[in-house]
Amino acid sequence: MNYKNSSNKILIDNNFTSLNFLETILVIEDSTFNQNFLKIVLENEEYRVLIGIDYESGIKIVQNQQVDLILLDVMLPKIDGFEICRLLKADSQTKDIPIIFMTALSNKEEKVKGLSLGAVDYITKPFQQEEVIARIQVHLKLRRLNLELDRQKQQLEQRVQERTAELSQALEELKKTQLQLVQREKISLLGQLVAGVAHEVNNPLGFISNNLHYANQYVQDLMNIVKLYQKQFPNPGHEIEEKIEESDLEHTLEDLPKLICSMKLGANRIHGMMQSLRNFSRSDRNQKKSVDIHDGLETTLMILQHRLQPRRKRPIIQVIKEYGNLPQVECYPGQLNQVFMNLLANAIDALEEGVGNREWGIGKSEFPTPQIKISTSLNNQQVTIRFTDNGQGMSESVQSNIFNSCFTTKPEGKGTGLGLLISYQIVVDQHGGELNCVSTLGKGTELTLKIPVRRSKASTV
Ligand SMILES: Nc1ncnc2c1ncn2[C@@H]1O[C@H](COP(=O)(O)OP(=O)(O)OP(=O)(O)O)[C@@H](O)[C@H]1O
Ligand SMILES: [Mg+2]
Repeated sequence: MNYKNSSNKILIDNNFTSLNFLETILVIEDSTFNQNFLKIVLENEEYRVLIGIDYESGIKIVQNQQVDLILLDVMLPKIDGFEICRLLKADSQTKDIPIIFMTALSNKEEKVKGLSLGAVDYITKPFQQEEVIARIQVHLKLRRLNLELDRQKQQLEQRVQERTAELSQALEELKKTQLQLVQREKISLLGQLVAGVAHEVNNPLGFISNNLHYANQYVQDLMNIVKLYQKQFPNPGHEIEEKIEESDLEHTLEDLPKLICSMKLGANRIHGMMQSLRNFSRSDRNQKKSVDIHDGLETTLMILQHRLQPRRKRPIIQVIKEYGNLPQVECYPGQLNQVFMNLLANAIDALEEGVGNREWGIGKSEFPTPQIKISTSLNNQQVTIRFTDNGQGMSESVQSNIFNSCFTTKPEGKGTGLGLLISYQIVVDQHGGELNCVSTLGKGTELTLKIPVRRSKASTV
């Protein structure tokens, strides 16, 4: 901090040292008498006085030393005081040093000209000691105040800049959080919808499954009775015989049990699917449970089944499973399902694009087949789940941005650019795990997530 004490010294304090500097006045004057007069008077007031006799010597001093005020004579050899004043005011390094002209008492034009060129004041010759000191003190004080004002202005500007940066960062964070909340809300609404549908389907499915059981019994009974009739009355008469032949009774009796059996299978399959949907959309998103990770993977694959089917430009996506032996993992299953969904959907999106410019080969061995490999393994009480696709892959610059909020290479409306960020937060923040990506442009991508089988208390968020 700089401040002026009662004598004309600037004290500079910092944590290490304390130095006293005298304020410096440069006198540019060619008369030795005036030089000596000013030197004695000003040094007596504890100012540091430097003398220049003309433009060159004066400018040299200003360029090499800190000068707080210049006393400038008008009448100088070669370059006069007005020209020196103009040059000093034109130079950014010296333009703020206050200049006081020294002029003859009677010369009004010189005073006006000096002030119009940027001088702050004038003193008249012959010098009046008190007047000289008073004017110099006023202008040095003004200069100190100006410097302080500048310093405060700079500080203020810097603070405004910092606050603006903080505010825009906060705004950015707010936007990101809003988007994430919207995505989470969407997924949770989707979950509720899916759970609702599963529930609604389950009721009528229950009637069908239960009644199929009785229907099977009744059909068996009826078939037994028909067979008994056939045995007791081998010749039932022309009309019945014709009807039996017409309806191919033998085939009906043989096919009916199979038909009921396949209806049972179908009902069981629907029941299984509804169970999976309910698991996927579990409302216990915020409760930890010990679960089989493979169940979550299977359910997610089942929900994405329609996206794996063949399209005009590509054959069916092959899913290769290399599941290891995993223990139950303590986790938030609903959230992990969301991660699997995001990673698998990204892999499918990448496979839609093909590999480089090549097309996927439909039934041709020389072309690659779109594939997603899911492998799981256990190492050091950590479960590793790896999703590898042979899709379009990513460039290095894309790769370095994938976990950033709202980063997407997909067309507007298709991708929000939040999938991987949210997956990262779920895996790393919620489960204390890791999520890493390795990708080669034109070859494919591998996303690896690692989740501890049981999270230690200390690392719980
Ligand atoms: N398996 C992958 N292969 C190639 N690129 C990928 C893969 N996974 C992610 N990416 C790239 O990373 C970007 C970010 O993925 P992220 O899942 O965060 O957002 P998104 O899929 O674009 O949108 P959404 O929010 O709907 O998931 C994608 O736009 C894509 O460029
Ligand atoms: Mg995505």
